[in-house]
Amino acid sequence: MIENNELWEQIDLCGEAPSDETLRQYYYMEKCRAVIEKEKAQLGRTLTASVVTFGCQMNARDSEKIIAILEKIGYEIVEGEDADFVIYNTCTVRENANLKVYGHLGALKRAKKKRPNMRVALCGCMMQEDTVVDKIKKSYRFVNLIFGTHNIFKFAELFYTSLGSDRMIIDIWKDTNQIVEDLPSERKYAFKAGVNVMFGCNNFCTYCIVPYVRGRERSRNPRDIIHEIEQLVADGVVEIMLLGQNVNSYGKNLEEPITFAQLLQEIEKIEGLKRIRFMTSHPKDLSDDLIQVMKHSKKICKHLHLPVQAGSSRLLKIMNRKYSKEDYLALVEKIKREIPDISLTTDIMVGFPGETEEDFLETMDVVEKVGYAAAYTFIYSKRTGTPAAVMEDQVPEDVVKERFQRLLDRVQAISGEIAKKDENTVQEVLVEGVDTQDSSLVTGRLSNNFLVHFKGEKEWIGSIVSVKLSQCKGFYYLGEMVSE
Ligand code: SAH
Ligand code: SF4
Ligand code: F3S
Repeated sequence: MIENNELWEQIDLCGEAPSDETLRQYYYMEKCRAVIEKEKAQLGRTLTASVVTFGCQMNARDSEKIIAILEKIGYEIVEGEDADFVIYNTCTVRENANLKVYGHLGALKRAKKKRPNMRVALCGCMMQEDTVVDKIKKSYRFVNLIFGTHNIFKFAELFYTSLGSDRMIIDIWKDTNQIVEDLPSERKYAFKAGVNVMFGCNNFCTYCIVPYVRGRERSRNPRDIIHEIEQLVADGVVEIMLLGQNVNSYGKNLEEPITFAQLLQEIEKIEGLKRIRFMTSHPKDLSDDLIQVMKHSKKICKHLHLPVQAGSSRLLKIMNRKYSKEDYLALVEKIKREIPDISLTTDIMVGFPGETEEDFLETMDVVEKVGYAAAYTFIYSKRTGTPAAVMEDQVPEDVVKERFQRLLDRVQAISGEIAKKDENTVQEVLVEGVDTQDSSLVTGRLSNNFLVHFKGEKEWIGSIVSVKLSQCKGFYYLGEMVSE
C-alpha cells in the first residue's frame, strides 16, 4: 500500500478535525479505527469488508482507494459479499449496470436478516442520480451509507458519521473542482497499476450519462502524477495505465497548461518504468504530437483504444461526437502510416435512435476498413436525462438484436484474422499470472494487449520475457518462452 506516513504521524485525535482535506481524512481514518478496534475486541474476532465494483477502470481505481482506507481502519479485505461491511461501487452507463446492483441489493436484504450487524454502503456513478437514491431510500432501508463520485475522498469522514448513527447517511454532491492528493491507495496487482490523470468529462455525447454523474473535466497536476508513478515504480510496478474519460484533452484547464503528449514524454523518463498504456482517447482530440510521441516511445504500448461509436456521419453528428466517418478513417490512416504495428481497438454502439439499415452498414464498413484487434460492442441503452433519451425513432428491439449479432460476428472474425498475422513471431510479454485453467502455464500480455499462455513459473509474474506465439486461438495465443 502507498501511503503517507508523515501525514499519519501529524494526526492528533484529541484535537479538532484538521481543515486541510488530506489531513482531515487521515484524522477520520484514525477515529474510525478506534471504533472498529473496539468492536473487534468485543466480538473477539476480526471484521471483514468487501468492495464490489461495477463499471469501468475509473471505478476500479476508486475501489482501490476505498479498499486502502478500509485496511487503514482495521478491516480485513475479503472477496464476495459474505462480509461485515459490503460496499457497492456502482455504474450507470447502461440500464443493465443498474439492474445488476438492484439484484445484488435484493440478495443482500436476505443476507442481512441473518447478519443484523452487517454494514452496507453504496457509492459510484449510479448514486449521482436522484431517482436511484429515492428508490434506495424507499426499498432498501437497510443501507447505512450512500455517497457519490465527487466526495469519494471523504469516505473515512462519512463512514465515521455513519458509525455513530442509526439512520441512513446520504451525502451526494452535484460537482466539485477539488482533487485531493496523498490519500492512501491500494492496488490489485503488484506489477501494474492504474493512475488517474483526469476526472470527469465535458463532451456530452448525446447518449451518455457519464458527464452528468462524473462532473466537469479536471486534470491532475503533472507533478502529482509523476510523483505517484515514481512511488509505484519504487514499489515494484513496471506497467501503468493512465486513466481518463478523454485523456487527449488532459491539461487544458490547468494553470500552466500542458498537453497529454507532453505528459507522456515526462512519464517516459521515469527510470524503471517499462510500459505505459492509456485510455480513453476521443478521436476528435487526438493530436499529431501524440502520434509522434507514441511512434518514438520505447515504453508506450503499441495499442490505441479509439472509440468510434458509429460509422454513419449523420448519426455521429446527432451523437455530438464532433467527427465524421471520413475524419475517423483519415485519422486511422495517419496513425497506421506513422505506427504500422499499432493495434487498434474500439467501442461501437448499435441501435442509437433513428439508426437505419444504411447507417448500420456504415458502421460495418468502418469495421471492415479499420480492422480492429478487438471491439467492445454495446446495444444502445436509454439513459434518462440525456438528450438521446427523448429522441424519436427509438429502434425496435428485434432490429437492434439482429444488427448487433451481425456486427459481433464480423468483429470477431476480423479480430481472429488480425491475431493470426502475428502467429510464429517472437514478442515481449509481461507475465501477469498463473493460468486459471492450467497451473503449469502462465499468462502474459503483449504490448498490443493480446494474451498468451505458455509454460512458466509463478516467480516470473511481473517480469517481461520473450515468447514465441506458436498458435493463434482467435482471441489469444499459446506460446513458448524463448531463451535470451
Ligand atoms: N469516455 C469514453 C467512453 C466511456 S463509456 C469514450 O468517449 O470513448 C464506455 C462506452 O460505453 C462508450 O464508448 C460507449 O460505446 C458505451 N456507452 C455509453 N453510453 C451508452 C449508452 N447509453 N448505451 C449503450 N452504450 C453506451
Ligand atoms: Fe461519454 Fe462521450 Fe464523455 Fe465518453 S466522451 S464519457 S462517451 S460523453
Ligand atoms: Fe460506469 Fe461511471 Fe465508468 S457510469 S462506465 S463507472 S464512469
